Amino acid sequence: MSCCFYRRLKRFSVLILVILFLIVTLIGIESTKISRVIGETKKSFVEYNFENRFIAPFKASGKSMSLRIDNTTAAEGTFSLLASGRKQIDDGILLDVTNLIDYANEYKITLYVYHKSSKMQRFVVSSEIETKSGKENKLLCEKIIIPKSWKKLDASLNLTEEKGIKKVWLKVYVPTSTTNFYVDLFTLKVADKSHLIKFENFEDKNIAGFISQDKKCKLSISKEKAYQGTYSIKVQQTVKRQNTTVILPVKGTFEKGKSYSISFYMHQSILKSLNFAVGIRFLESGKNMREIVLGRVTIPKNKWTEVFASYTPSLDSKIKDFVIFIRPLSDISYYYIDNFTISDDGWYSAVPDLDLPSLREKYKNYFKIGVAVPYRALTNPVDVAFIKRHFNSITAENEMKPEALEPIEDNFNFSIADEYLNFCKKNNIAIRGHTLVWHQQTPNWFFENPQTGKKLTNSEKDKKILLERLKKYIQTVVSRYKGRIYAWDVVNEAIDENEPDGFRRSDWFNVLGPEYIEKAFIYAHQADPNAQLFYNDYSTENPVKREYIYKLIKSLREKGIPIHGVGLQCHISVSWPSVEEVEKTIKLFSSIPGIKIHVTEIDISVAKEYGKDIDEETKRYLLIQQARKLKDLFDVFKKYKNVVTSVSFWGLKDDYSWLQGDFPLLFDKDYQPKFAFWSLIDPSVVPEE
Ligand code: GLA
Repeated sequence: MSCCFYRRLKRFSVLILVILFLIVTLIGIESTKISRVIGETKKSFVEYNFENRFIAPFKASGKSMSLRIDNTTAAEGTFSLLASGRKQIDDGILLDVTNLIDYANEYKITLYVYHKSSKMQRFVVSSEIETKSGKENKLLCEKIIIPKSWKKLDASLNLTEEKGIKKVWLKVYVPTSTTNFYVDLFTLKVADKSHLIKFENFEDKNIAGFISQDKKCKLSISKEKAYQGTYSIKVQQTVKRQNTTVILPVKGTFEKGKSYSISFYMHQSILKSLNFAVGIRFLESGKNMREIVLGRVTIPKNKWTEVFASYTPSLDSKIKDFVIFIRPLSDISYYYIDNFTISDDGWYSAVPDLDLPSLREKYKNYFKIGVAVPYRALTNPVDVAFIKRHFNSITAENEMKPEALEPIEDNFNFSIADEYLNFCKKNNIAIRGHTLVWHQQTPNWFFENPQTGKKLTNSEKDKKILLERLKKYIQTVVSRYKGRIYAWDVVNEAIDENEPDGFRRSDWFNVLGPEYIEKAFIYAHQADPNAQLFYNDYSTENPVKREYIYKLIKSLREKGIPIHGVGLQCHISVSWPSVEEVEKTIKLFSSIPGIKIHVTEIDISVAKEYGKDIDEETKRYLLIQQARKLKDLFDVFKKYKNVVTSVSFWGLKDDYSWLQGDFPLLFDKDYQPKFAFWSLIDPSVVPEE
């Protein structure tokens, strides 16, 4: 009996084991279906799209929480993963990647998230790494997500330096509330490394496929000049003519979602400065020829200058077999090209979000929201989409300064400035004119004797010459755009608080004395009586400088000089000046009857005091401080909305800023809105610390 019982038990256990084995195998088969593993290296690409309705291997992190496959919304297909019943803000979904990925590689993580709460929420992706020495949590990505719209999160996971890993978890949660949330298209893939597609330095005396599009323009290998080594390409035009285009056909593909850069060096020894357009040309859908200008570059005389352009075909489809073109925008008989590089910078996963809440809409009852942009922004479709969505005022960053408009006496060049005006008209955006009279970016000829070439003095004769030039310049420029430019920065940076009388010893001042300021306003007003005329300066929060500016503006108004406002440039930093000082400045200047305030060039440096080499944690901390400061400043601007009528940022995104390597603006180099942006839309989603 007992023997029989044991035999049966044995058979029964074998049966159970077989059943268990079958279950495990089946689950195994199912779970390999869940994670599609593609590529030469195992686990170099894993994707979960929940279309097979499996929750595993995802787990809920909170006790009362549940994960469910949901068919009411999905980023792609029918199903997504829903996290519900969250009790704590750090309840979320977990993915154990310990055995999924190869620690020798860096991984790119992308996932789509969605929520239906009534306000925007901050989503976080973090990693939890367990080693012998304990557990460590790391923030991999945080992004503010508007309700009812699937958005992509991008993160990187780099375990290549970690030692003795026991477990690695990824976690997704929403620290701004306990809202339910959805996840879809969760992928992990080995990050690409940047690599060269083409490099030519012409040292092998080979022209490397460059072609001229015009018979009158010849290309040859030359020894006359070289950026490095001995040779370069010489482009020689037998007729002095612009628009002769040099092209380089490239066999290859620009893939959607990747980023590419083109760099080369140019040299010219003929013009004081020469403008070039550089871009790509390709057949769109195999049919229509499309040309995209990636940049306009100025090449000074006798100086090898790097031309850099980048391209991300995120809004276009794959581009195959394209052409890179270089086109001089002024007449030139010859120039040189050297060290030509095209590189693939890898996956560009941060897609610009074209439906972020609109800044200009948000502030429409307060003041205009402006941005200073270089010309190339007007030719870049993503920049244009951002400008149109968020801004209702534009300033030309450099293109309407005297050196751009009248580089040579009596030789006005309005072509680019006109394009700004056309762009603004077409898109119903207002434009500020910047700047008429300044000690910088003004050609030397203004201050030189036309006959002798010597510097003008303060003799009566020389004064007359300079005053005539001032009048002609202002009247030509202002009357050309009469009725179309709502505000002009007539005089820029004329105060220097270190001078005993407070006046900067500029070439203008040295010849004309302080009178040039009055005259500039008078001439501008004569040319366009309806334009608002501004005095513009930086460090307007410095109490000594502020006082000088105040006295100047007050005395101009009292003399009946047509001045209507003060521009506070607001090139500030996270630590200086305080918001109180900015308020004091606004209060003081607006106490002068008839004076309005424009914030003309705001940017908030984080690198000024903290340097450019900061770690991710410090950077995040500083970007939160930057956001807080911006929000507090905007509260002040709103409080004075009757006098503050326009607020302009000096640049669209961090990599366009004059503060190279700093992070002073609203969007990062990948167009991702920073905390600074969100602080102006909904400060409650900006982290406390
Ligand atoms: C000053 C000028 C601007 C610009 C910035 C820095 O503030 O007014 O035109 O040159 O400096 O780029």
